[in-house]
Amino acid sequence: MYNDNRMTIYLGIETSCDETAAAIVKEGRIVLSNCVQSQIRTHQTFGGVVPEVAAREHLESINHIIALALSEAKLSKKDLSGIACTVGPGLIGTLLVGIAAAQSLSFAWDLPLIGVDHLYAHVCANFLDTDLKPPFICLLVSGGHTQIIHFADFNEFKILGQTVDDAAGEAYDKVARLLGLPYPGGPAIDKLAKDGNPHAFKFPEAKMADLDFSFSGLKTAVLRCLEKLEQPWPVTDIAASFQNAVTDALVRKTLLGREKTGAPFIVLAGGVAANTVLRKKMQAQSKVPVIYPSVRYCTDNAAMVAAAAYFTKSAGELGFGGDPAYSRQKRSRLSRAK
Ligand code: KG4
Ligand code: ZN
Repeated sequence: MYNDNRMTIYLGIETSCDETAAAIVKEGRIVLSNCVQSQIRTHQTFGGVVPEVAAREHLESINHIIALALSEAKLSKKDLSGIACTVGPGLIGTLLVGIAAAQSLSFAWDLPLIGVDHLYAHVCANFLDTDLKPPFICLLVSGGHTQIIHFADFNEFKILGQTVDDAAGEAYDKVARLLGLPYPGGPAIDKLAKDGNPHAFKFPEAKMADLDFSFSGLKTAVLRCLEKLEQPWPVTDIAASFQNAVTDALVRKTLLGREKTGAPFIVLAGGVAANTVLRKKMQAQSKVPVIYPSVRYCTDNAAMVAAAAYFTKSAGELGFGGDPAYSRQKRSRLSRAK
């Protein structure tokens, strides 16, 4: 395949946590390749992500994953319009691996480098393989963040509410650990809960103002409940009851945000958007269509990063040393010197 330069084709790179990912996306929506090397097995030994170990594994995999993304898309560097990489939020050591790789390729291949916000990228996962456009209300639920965001346009958004303590994914991971389940806890609880009774235990929903959330009390409530129970614990019932409480809170507040803004769609984003009960409940209770990415685009991936580079205006071009003006000046000097 050869890009005739009328199409914007970005190589996306993602290393913010424990997935080394590279992908090629055309016009922000058409995924030409999506390669992810997960480190889950490594971190399972420790019960969570160890930042230093994660950074080293990224370093080992990054070149291979980028080469794989290009070869699966049947493209070469000449076909690319730019390189997009996650610049935060994330683990600083792991982010640096992706940024260094992206900067090096941008320099070597003389391509613009676009820095992308990881959370914005999660929202953009909803544009992949669809023709979705704002306005919409988005529930962004990941391992580090829980936010309700109103998108008036692609680059016009307002955070209406967020967690004051643990993120929803973090609550899943911590409760899974209490139950002796493997990391990451979300998929493990989602799976176990299918065989449990969601009403077996009543876990309280934190009373938070407006559209804010709090999940740390819920985690403590599960701990207190376990302390009172005799072994063997009814793990499936606890998992289902915990999941019921988390998803009730997420759905209730998102619907409230939807009512307030009159948005015509509800959009889910982030790792917890893969949750089967959250998806079903939101769909059952919402008066407007509920959109969510396929599971491979909910958890960390680079296709969403390449999409974000296409849709974002705010991130702009990153450069060597981080100053866009310096970058352009230096690059043109370098190209002249060639
Ligand atoms: O978006 P993500 O891949 O990484 C961050 O940016 O944090 O989200 C990871 C989080 C983890 O906490 C994981 O337990 C949770 O998403 N997760 C789930 C499911 N799949 C992943 N939570 C609930 N149900 C799932 N099926
Ligand atoms: Zn993420």
